[in-house]
Amino acid sequence: MVNARIVGTGSYVPEGIITNADLEKLVDTTDEWITSRTGIKERRRTPATEATSDLGYRAAQRALEAAGLKSSELDVIIFCTITPDTHCPSAAAWLQGKLGAMQAVSFDVNAACSGFLFGLNVAEQFLKAGTARYVLVVAGETMTRATDYDDRSSCILWGDGAGAVVMTSTIGNNGHSRILSTHLHTDGTHADMLQYPGGGSAVSPISHETVDKKRHFIRMEGPESFKLAVRLFSEVCTEALTANGKTVEDVRWLVPHQANGRILQMVARQINFPLDKVYMTIQKYGNISSATVPIALDEAVRDGSIKTGDLVLLAAFGGGLTWGSSLIRW
Ligand code: UT7
Repeated sequence: MVNARIVGTGSYVPEGIITNADLEKLVDTTDEWITSRTGIKERRRTPATEATSDLGYRAAQRALEAAGLKSSELDVIIFCTITPDTHCPSAAAWLQGKLGAMQAVSFDVNAACSGFLFGLNVAEQFLKAGTARYVLVVAGETMTRATDYDDRSSCILWGDGAGAVVMTSTIGNNGHSRILSTHLHTDGTHADMLQYPGGGSAVSPISHETVDKKRHFIRMEGPESFKLAVRLFSEVCTEALTANGKTVEDVRWLVPHQANGRILQMVARQINFPLDKVYMTIQKYGNISSATVPIALDEAVRDGSIKTGDLVLLAAFGGGLTWGSSLIRW
């Protein structure tokens, strides 16, 4: 049986830091409120001279290096993002040009904060079908470009960065690192809960009116999406464990989308998952939408937290609504 496996990880966050003290100068908020309600202390900001594919480029270079692969060996590049450099061409096309990966079929996947898991699953299909040997999955976001710094309920959340994995196929099950399962879900009846409408056909062409109405910024029904996130995160983690006949005790690390530290605490409580086995980056990077999972994954690999043979559970929830999980034997 053919399976997909991850053979290299990489990540990159820009150097510019937005602290809670910086936000106190912009909106009516406090470090105490942000820390206690979200767990966030800092987030990163991309310099004006760079775009999402530039962040993705650095993350991809690191993942390729870890995999011992040249970009010319890639067959497919999947870029997961809701903040591409341009609506057209895709962030993947910009990235492919920068990498010089001329053989690689390249396209974007948009599943908001769950994007990386959706991209991972698309990559799995290429590998299992035998139509690709090496696939690069990148998730990168410049969320600070989509942030309304007058809206105190959301500007405190978002940051920038990118993560990447190189994947290939593997034959057989015993003792091999591989993706055991991926479960994905979408519920478009709640599509209005988290929106980034500017430039889309529903509000085009961009006009003074759309700008005055701030349609070029992200809008979120925070408390409602918070409740759904806790429920659906918990459900999809349980779904992954049940499908594989595993328990919470079997899992070494839960590497979740980092939307809000309190969401993660509540999910851990709901599924009886020890909080010290939840890999957290929210305090230093905030919410980077699709990129939080691969960034946390890369940091956990590089700092030695994730070791060969560990069972790692990835989970995400985001706009769409979208949510999903992936259980990986590392
Ligand atoms: O990644 C994709 C998925 N994302 C999510 O699922 C995000 C989920 N939502 C959240 O993380 C939280 O809902 C927020 C961080 C957005 C908001 O936190 P909350 O604990 O749900 O606060 P709230 O919106 O219920 O507001 C509570 C109070 C309100 O004041 P009143 O009406 O009680 O007087 C807000 O006006 O806190 C106020 N508030 C703030 N106060 C100080 C809202 N934002 C701030 C702020 N500083 N930055």
